[in-house]
Amino acid sequence: MEDMELKKFYEGKRVLVTGHTGFKGSWLICLLNKLGAKVCGYALAPNTTPNMFNLIKGKSFVEHHVGDIRDYNKLLKVFKSFKPEIVFHLAAQPIVLTGYEQPKYTFETNVMGTVNVLEAIRNTNTVKSFVNVTTDKVYLNNDSGRAFLETDPLCGYDPYSNSKSCSELVTYSYQQSYFNLKDFDKHHTAISTCRAGNVIGGGDWADFRLIPDCVRSLVKGEDIVIRNPNSTRPFQHVLEPLLMYITIAMKQYNNPKFCDNYNIGPNIENCISAKELVEYFVKYAPEISYVIKTDKNCPHEASKLTLDNTKIKQKLKYKPTFDMDTTVKSVVEWTKSYINHEDMKLVTEKQIDEFFKSIK
Ligand SMILES: NC(=O)c1ccc[n+]([C@@H]2O[C@H](COP(=O)([O-])OP(=O)(O)OC[C@H]3O[C@@H](n4cnc5c(N)ncnc54)[C@H](O)[C@@H]3O)[C@@H](O)[C@H]2O)c1
Repeated sequence: MEDMELKKFYEGKRVLVTGHTGFKGSWLICLLNKLGAKVCGYALAPNTTPNMFNLIKGKSFVEHHVGDIRDYNKLLKVFKSFKPEIVFHLAAQPIVLTGYEQPKYTFETNVMGTVNVLEAIRNTNTVKSFVNVTTDKVYLNNDSGRAFLETDPLCGYDPYSNSKSCSELVTYSYQQSYFNLKDFDKHHTAISTCRAGNVIGGGDWADFRLIPDCVRSLVKGEDIVIRNPNSTRPFQHVLEPLLMYITIAMKQYNNPKFCDNYNIGPNIENCISAKELVEYFVKYAPEISYVIKTDKNCPHEASKLTLDNTKIKQKLKYKPTFDMDTTVKSVVEWTKSYINHEDMKLVTEKQIDEFFKSIK
């Protein structure tokens, strides 16, 4: 791992990650563990077989708590006993189609879950830096194709997207009311929200997502079925936003000028269609192919979504690390290592090292 500033900062820090058993959470705990942090996780048990958390043997290097984010008392107990200095909130119902099927559960988890995390922060006094992980889908989207700015109105269309817009509003209200920047010297609690585009990487087995569909096809040796070939998304490797989450948490820890809302997306050339993404995938997995089967009955999903990443580039000197080709190549390599029964913690750590070596 190359980044000495991050390593120096995270060494020995007490970091709590909600949603650590999920796809992004598993990559994040692996990254924090490599940086020397003491990591605690709070989430439901992994809900797919296989799953990244078990493959990297997450229980062996984090303080692992299974609990529902809607259970405030249980969450508070973990805050009181672990005493985190830094919190990353990822626990959520993150799937658009599941949101349509279970809107009440989605709002309860994603909105009240955020309230519970902020309440736990407010009622303990150990947390100095909090990053709430939302999504590029928080914006009011009229499908114009214009890249969203952080100042655009927040109002997601479907229950998942809207619940994440609400999570942003909840965070804003807690920040204004209890952790206002003008009183930073008194409370020392820095808060940011991060709106990341679609992330891809090895180890995602969620339903209704394109790369997990490609991975399942590769494992079974079957053709990939593309249902929305023209839908365009800001695809990026999972380590791109994770690097920004940990950088923001570090910077704002000592300097509240970094508390903000950040879009985290690739440059415009990486905002590609589902079909183009699959074409990259089969380039590195030529043993399979793809078919297009459009489904007219699918519920509404924005067809175009792009993020303006100017703010994060200017404020944090961010430059996307991997281009699309390298991103998809690393997903296919991770998956082939899994198929070959390799040690997936070592494979994941090796990919983290390769990513850090590529940072310009
Ligand atoms: N994957 C993406 O492309 C993407 C893009 C932007 C934002 N996000 C956000 O990143 C976060 C993580 O997403 P992911 O892709 O890793 O999803 P995931 O489904 O792999 O992981 C979700 C995590 O949340 C936990 N969780 C879900 N419901 C819970 C509940 N009721 N109580 C406690 N824990 C609960 C799960 O146990 C799991 O650990 C989410 O907040 C999601 O909205 C994801």
